[in-house]
Amino acid sequence: MEYDEFKKIVTENGQGHLVKLYERLDDAKRKKLLDQVSRIDFNKIDYLYSLTKEKKEFNNVNIKPIDACDANNLSDEEKARLRAIGIEAIQQGKLAVVMMAGGQGTRLGHSGPKGTFDFGLESHKSIFEVFADKFKDAEKEFGVIVPWYIMTSRENVRDTITFFLEHNYFDYEDGIRTFFSQNELPMLDENGKLIISEDGLVKEAANGHGGVFDALVSNMVLDQLKSMGIEWIFTCGVDNVLAKLVDPLLLGYAIDNNYKATSVSCIKDYPEEKVGVLCYKDDKPSVVEYTELTDDLKYAKKESGELLFSESHIMMNLFSTSVIEDISKKELPYHVAHKKCDIIDEEGNVIKPDKPNAYKFETFIFDAFERLPKLGVLRYKREECFAPIKNAEGADSPETARKLYKAYYNL
Ligand code: UTP
Repeated sequence: MEYDEFKKIVTENGQGHLVKLYERLDDAKRKKLLDQVSRIDFNKIDYLYSLTKEKKEFNNVNIKPIDACDANNLSDEEKARLRAIGIEAIQQGKLAVVMMAGGQGTRLGHSGPKGTFDFGLESHKSIFEVFADKFKDAEKEFGVIVPWYIMTSRENVRDTITFFLEHNYFDYEDGIRTFFSQNELPMLDENGKLIISEDGLVKEAANGHGGVFDALVSNMVLDQLKSMGIEWIFTCGVDNVLAKLVDPLLLGYAIDNNYKATSVSCIKDYPEEKVGVLCYKDDKPSVVEYTELTDDLKYAKKESGELLFSESHIMMNLFSTSVIEDISKKELPYHVAHKKCDIIDEEGNVIKPDKPNAYKFETFIFDAFERLPKLGVLRYKREECFAPIKNAEGADSPETARKLYKAYYNL
């Protein structure tokens, strides 16, 4: 894009402050800014800003509980049968794992990518190394190398790859196929203006974990997986150190029931726990976020005394490749997050806000569920599958995750 065109476009779209910014940049940055602006869809920017004015209404949504299969209630024979189906698929090379590691990990406050974090084991293994161990265990057990794909953000891709290189791919180099970056969206200030970050360019941020579908397609990863004969993709976050990455029971359960998507759940610890729960919304599989659950639904109980809405969505989902292809054809809805963000004003001064001043736009992986005719739900005990590292201390912190991890592995 040439300067004149840039000036016309940004001025017409109410982003004239970029012209002033351009004048302050050196030649290399100017080029980068023109390139950035040429990629911005200004109609989409208007749409995203309009979302910040919308008030979310949940009251009209018809929410119902969803049934789960409790893995611990299956008979030994049934478990063995389902596992055998799963093992066959794993050994035929039909499973790949896609780990979503593009988040910013703001709450944890670790300076590098979350997967590089040492959560305090005596061995000082990082989260990535703990996951590499799981793949190597699976290789020993099933005799196959399950491909491990890692989705990063443009912000953390370099540090993530460097970390793997420095650690010799944790001796799983044949399994670690690709690092691919998710797409980004510009951040806006409260007046809908594109935010300028400290590097002098338009501030962009990763488009949420729902960006995994589009990133798999735009980076040609899905094509690669299909050409390798992969039929199933297990997606998970980077921050649950008890995630079962290669799980024959889950795979067998999905195949046996012909579920093209299956979510792993565990029961909510207590009604106020900050976790989304799987449910039906308007008769479609979905997740209701903890902020959306009204008190009567939050505390409602089944006859058995269990919470009615307690099937936690813990970011462990198994999708068939064909379903991922379908989902990626249509954008997921955007959610608005109001964040604190350092910005540069028109005069080039850095502004450090003391309250949220910026909008970030994200899509969520579970918004894809409503496009599915049905969703399988396989429930494990929490101590078998869920030890998240979200916060620096307190609930879901390195301390709680470490305890759960050590208890599970008898360390
Ligand atoms: P979270 O929503 O917990 O976000 O992501 P986070 O970035 O890890 O932490 P905070 O909210 O900034 O403190 C759940 C999972 O989804 C991934 C994260 O890396 C994590 O594994 N994720 C999130 C992405 O891959 N991309 C995103 O844009 C957002």
